[in-house]
Amino acid sequence: MRDGRRRRRLIPFTRHPSSPASSSIVARISNLSLLLFAAIIIILASLTARLRPIQLLRLSSLHLRPTPSPLAPAHRPLITMPRSRGDPYSYLYERMLPFHANFRRTIAMIQHTLPQTQTLPKRDLERFLAMGVQLVHHLEMHHSIEEAHIFPVLATKMPDFGASATHVHEHEVMHAALEAFGGELMATHRRLTGSQGKKAEAEGCGQALQREEEEGRKAWPRSVYDGEKVANLTQTLAEALLPHLEAEEASISAKSMRAAGWTEEEVLRIPI
Ligand SMILES: *[C@@H]1O[C@H](CO)[C@@H](O)[C@H](O)[C@H]1NC(C)=O
Repeated sequence: MRDGRRRRRLIPFTRHPSSPASSSIVARISNLSLLLFAAIIIILASLTARLRPIQLLRLSSLHLRPTPSPLAPAHRPLITMPRSRGDPYSYLYERMLPFHANFRRTIAMIQHTLPQTQTLPKRDLERFLAMGVQLVHHLEMHHSIEEAHIFPVLATKMPDFGASATHVHEHEVMHAALEAFGGELMATHRRLTGSQGKKAEAEGCGQALQREEEEGRKAWPRSVYDGEKVANLTQTLAEALLPHLEAEEASISAKSMRAAGWTEEEVLRIPI
């Protein structure tokens, strides 16, 4: 799809120079205007070179640090080698840990931000909602890849990874929590950007209070953003997520992999 679009845009550029119309235009351009043209190109190039670091800076100053692509097969290197020369049996654990660390960090960030969300400025509230929705997407992708590519291999020696066993059941419990949490965030985003949210924004919600004796910002009505409901849904999600991450890590620890009777070669061949 993307390739097709790129190709369609490229073809006119590759054809034009050879067409008679464009060559007669080129012939009419004086040396002076060619020089001017080159100067403009150089100025534009230096401007974009200068703009790029600014964009990077802005992205990194956002609090929404993206989680790494959760084990997407397309991004997996063709030859998988253990990162360290340490214990090969901890290979799977070490490769999984950064993803888990990211999930823990994101949900901690959400929980940390929650108490102030009822009065956040609109843009910040939208960012908070986006962080939650992104966590939902990344967790669901992570689970479906685990269930399609990693768990079936592990299940050959470890029954906890079987199709109807512990870890898949934990995914199911979490999926329900994710749907409730993600559903509420997306519904909030629709209300916030719809007529209700616009009306509340016009009434000063999320903005500094006017009267001198009052500090802080005006809260959003709970008909637009129900911070307590989101806090409850976050709590339910955390209660499903955090013990599951721990249980999964215990199941793939070097000790568990040894106890299950994997050979070193087999461990290194697990697709992660
Ligand atoms: C949130 O949870 C508390 C405690 O379980 C409960 O009393 C409250 O009604 C819940 N609030 C919402 C909005 O769901």
